[in-house]
Amino acid sequence: MSARPWWRDAVIYQVYPRSFADANGDGLGDLPGIISRLAYLAALGIDAIWVSPFYTSPQHDAGYDVADFRDVDPRFGNLADADALIAGAHERGLKVLFDIVPNHTSSEHRWWQEVLRSGPGSEAWDRYIIRASDDGPPNNWNSIFHGPAWSKLVTADGVDTGYWYLHLFDSTQPDVNWENDEVREEFADILRFWFDRGVDGFRIDVAHGMVKDPALPNVDYAKMRQAELLGSSPEAPYWDQEGVHDIYREWRRIADSYDPPRIFCGETWAPSPERLALYQRPDELHTSFNFDYLKAGWDRQAVQRSVANTLLHHAKVGAPPTWVLSNHDVVRHRTRLAPGFYPQDRHCRPDEVRGLARARALTLFTLALPGSTYLYQGEELGLVEVFDIPDAAREDPAWHRSQGEDLGRDGCRVPLPWSGDAPSYGFNSGTASWLPQPPSWATLCAQAQDGLGDSTLEFYRAALRLRRARSLGESALEWWDTDGDLLAFRRASDTPLMCVINFGDAPAILPSGTVEIASMADAVTADHLLAGESCIWMTPS
Ligand code: NOJ
Repeated sequence: MSARPWWRDAVIYQVYPRSFADANGDGLGDLPGIISRLAYLAALGIDAIWVSPFYTSPQHDAGYDVADFRDVDPRFGNLADADALIAGAHERGLKVLFDIVPNHTSSEHRWWQEVLRSGPGSEAWDRYIIRASDDGPPNNWNSIFHGPAWSKLVTADGVDTGYWYLHLFDSTQPDVNWENDEVREEFADILRFWFDRGVDGFRIDVAHGMVKDPALPNVDYAKMRQAELLGSSPEAPYWDQEGVHDIYREWRRIADSYDPPRIFCGETWAPSPERLALYQRPDELHTSFNFDYLKAGWDRQAVQRSVANTLLHHAKVGAPPTWVLSNHDVVRHRTRLAPGFYPQDRHCRPDEVRGLARARALTLFTLALPGSTYLYQGEELGLVEVFDIPDAAREDPAWHRSQGEDLGRDGCRVPLPWSGDAPSYGFNSGTASWLPQPPSWATLCAQAQDGLGDSTLEFYRAALRLRRARSLGESALEWWDTDGDLLAFRRASDTPLMCVINFGDAPAILPSGTVEIASMADAVTADHLLAGESCIWMTPS
């Protein structure tokens, strides 16, 4: 057995339960569906899965509005299914991360229900962020899902209390008060509840957001950087506050008290790689998502800068970096990187062929970096963002709260195509699907790509196999001196590996060596040039 902790260079696959596989045919994925596809996941060559929330929830934010953190929503299964999922994954050598949502509860959580039956000064009210204000909301904070971040607190009997409660997300997701001891104890206990059931760790939702500046000062939004979903206003008094680190010191002690120690990955939208690395100090989180890298796009300089800064600052705290290109909150990277993609334009028609070339190239580049990598379900099939979802089918609160101005995130959440050529493409044994799947997905389904040499699925399998065989781990990355559109580095592993990506359109000269894997079948020309929008791994000679 290797002495290196598994999580330091793992490939972790995000399962978004409602869209992964649907065993009971109701159109919403479920835990038995995930269990039925564990063999597929193990064969893909990943090390672990991260499962987005499946807890009891009214589903106003696709499960990120949790009503009971210790139970499974009946739409997804039951606790026995959760146990079977953990056991089944472990049998196949896969670790399991669940998702903890500590910034807010659902308004159907018993704590919020108590608020509605209590009054100012009560224990119930102290668990949330509630303020009196006669003259509109207590400050000008915006919800990430649009509109004000405060709503009037109206009791169960419909009485307007004159108070307001904070919700950085939907009004059905009141923010909890992390100054309250009971809140801290409750979440520590929730961690133990799942750790005791064998879960290997947690992804932490809004990991940079639990502590707010107690003065609740107004925000000068005009001076903030351009808005993005969770990275919006990175300097705001509700993000990345010093006090949040204390929470992680306590959580780390809990994780370390287990054998083997459990681990964390924070969904940490920090303003810079430097601030991000602080969350990975030795007594805090093991890892955090690196959204700076995700945001670098198809841009040679931005990618190199992000990698270099991430490595520099993580090295200072002795933590491995993580890399991610897609998740359930962002436009799928095959679409996002494509020429012709314009954010928030549902009528744009990105070039899907070049988008796929770029996506495969950047994925191969990413898999060669030191540290761990997160994959989002369906990227291994080359799925695209779906724009033409009928308005009536859209569920994202960001869409609803913006009256359709913000397209929201439904486009990257369309249920996976597994097999066949008619909806639901094997998502279940019938035709139901909570979001409609485009007809073009018949050729993208897993079965259609299985065993097909050039397919994106076989490309992912091959890349993951080679990554594992080469045990790249955290060995040093040395940039190779390139100019123009090429970016290249060498990994100082036992068998040296060189990764070269071409961000340009024109072929470029490759260093000499043996090509081990290419992002596209025609990436390397007969005269040893690297085609545009391609990437290769090679053994240098
Ligand atoms: C981040 C999650 O990834 C996102 O899906 C969710 O809407 C917000 N946090 C609120 O929990």
